[in-house]
Amino acid sequence: MAYLTETVTYVKHWNERLFSFRTTRKPTFRFKNGHFVMIGMEVEGKPLMRAYSIASANYEEELEFLSIKVPNGPLTSRLQHIKVGDELLLSEKSTGTLVTDYTLPGKNLWLISTGTGLAPFMSIIKDPEVYDQFDRVILTHGVRYAACLAYHNYITKELPNNEYIGDIIKEKLHYYPTVTREPYKNKGRITDLIQSGQLCNDLNIPDIKVEDDRFMLCGSEALIKDMTKILDDKGFHAARKRTQGHYVLENAFVGK
Ligand code: A2P
Repeated sequence: MAYLTETVTYVKHWNERLFSFRTTRKPTFRFKNGHFVMIGMEVEGKPLMRAYSIASANYEEELEFLSIKVPNGPLTSRLQHIKVGDELLLSEKSTGTLVTDYTLPGKNLWLISTGTGLAPFMSIIKDPEVYDQFDRVILTHGVRYAACLAYHNYITKELPNNEYIGDIIKEKLHYYPTVTREPYKNKGRITDLIQSGQLCNDLNIPDIKVEDDRFMLCGSEALIKDMTKILDDKGFHAARKRTQGHYVLENAFVGK
């Protein structure tokens, strides 16, 4: 497979387990918001590549990624030490199922994530077309500790003041961060908060129903499994190849 070489332009460490980085982007590299690519570096003369969702929007000049740091992970143990000016490899093509092409029309778009599963949704919430398609966009992010709420300030402070999309964000984006292992204003697993109705209650929005609500799921295997069961039990159908559905899903890439 052919790879592009891009240069690291920015690195931000959120905590000891999580970091974001940006790279240059060739003008010819195109993607849909929600897509992922293969990212990596040459190790012992061979490309070592892992799937990463793109966290920047497709109209932005650079590419942004969110990664965990796995101490013994073949790639992330190296990637976590990257510095501005370093070079990375990137696949020439992007792909993925977390795109609105695969969801049936609806009123509310739910973006359900845990951990680094947030990444593709950072791209999607910056897409003006998504707000044309839905009345509300509900972004949930479940993490163990509040320090793992990557992009929290960006979502709550910067994005609503963005000169192009700030107004639509203020009107339509509902952000619901939740923490499971320490006190926080929203506490508990997203699945439980949806099942109990508390999440809709807290956001002051109607209970979910097949007619109105569409879902994108991105997180751990356990989250995907439990959330899929909740939706299936309520009569929602997953998108299949070539047919749109009430929901789409992708496991968050571990990126070891
Ligand atoms: P918990 O602390 O109860 O395990 P991780 O860092 O392991 O990927 O977890 C990220 C977040 O996802 C944590 O808050 C974790 O909660 C939560 N989580 C783990 N499994 C599930 C699941 N099956 N459904 C919903 N949330 C989950």
